[in-house]
Amino acid sequence: MRHLITLDDFSNFEIESIFRLAIGMQSQLDTWAGICRSKLLATLFYEPSTRTRLSFESAMERLNGGTLGFADPQATSATKGETLADTARMVTNYADIIVVRNSWAGSARVMAKYANIPVINGGDGSHAHPTQALTDLFTIIRRKSKVQGLTVGVCGDLRYGRAAHSFALAVARFGGKLVHICPKGLQMPSWVQVRLAEVHGQNPIEVENVTEVIDTLDVIYVNRLQEERLPANVDPKTVRGSYLLNDAVMKNAKSDAMIMHPLPRVNELAYELDDDPRAAYFEQSANAVPIRMALIASLLGLEQLILTQPPQRNISETTHKCKNTNCITHNESYLIPETETYNSNLDIHTCAYCGNLLT
Ligand code: NCD
Repeated sequence: MRHLITLDDFSNFEIESIFRLAIGMQSQLDTWAGICRSKLLATLFYEPSTRTRLSFESAMERLNGGTLGFADPQATSATKGETLADTARMVTNYADIIVVRNSWAGSARVMAKYANIPVINGGDGSHAHPTQALTDLFTIIRRKSKVQGLTVGVCGDLRYGRAAHSFALAVARFGGKLVHICPKGLQMPSWVQVRLAEVHGQNPIEVENVTEVIDTLDVIYVNRLQEERLPANVDPKTVRGSYLLNDAVMKNAKSDAMIMHPLPRVNELAYELDDDPRAAYFEQSANAVPIRMALIASLLGLEQLILTQPPQRNISETTHKCKNTNCITHNESYLIPETETYNSNLDIHTCAYCGNLLT
């Protein structure tokens, strides 16, 4: 059974195969409509969502599949204390594939362990957002034909932004050169930085202000401040609005640069940029549908030649408890801690649920 919990679940070959299928589905929708007939997608959204849930539903229905689920966990048995494991077992009987969003890092991995159907991570706490990263990479490749060799600035709340984490790791994997742009205190977490260095040989330069590097960037990926995840001792007012992309800043950018944002934007991306030909953020949200169509069809095994080369992973049980207080292992007591090591450095142990460094 294949799942998409982080992009580590897919090889580069598989990711590129999904992109090819997405292009076919985008341009020849009639050919593909019907492929998911009689299949059901469960959308389990324990956290707010607009684009992710709607684009998944749109994708499934365009393939003539059905959808069921919830967008308000207050109306579910989670409020009575039901575990993710039990919910996963139950939904297995009601649907053929699950997309889940939850505020706990590692929650989608728990669902995948207990569901007997494919599980897609629609965002787990401040950990990962792999389907957003697929959409982002696809958008870059459609405009620039490759990621290899591009200078890519990731800008904003890099500490808590799960879309930023998955995007940075994906860009590095496909040979892009990263630049980190973030206010003090909101730097890329060490688990992402260590990984970029150990697995991809990258130590991105880090600046506080986008104006310092704007003329060097081929892609500027902006993220909002994740106010809902800030710890109580961080005052949003001191970091809010400390980075802003607008016409004045973009005057110094390359004429063929791309402005990207996973959306929603709050006050970090000026509306005056919407008509700039370099703006690619609405294209990004549109690309979410063919990407999610291709992903659903592949995970359901309806397209046989896509998911054929799963990456090798080193995962085992451990006695080390994860120190990340947002990790699902702190909330669901039946879980046994597990560790993952990188093939390139077997001495680095990370939590297999939330990615944090264990030692
Ligand atoms: C992102 C998310 O939920 O992580 N939104 C999305 O899915 N497009 C980004 C965000 O909320 O900032």
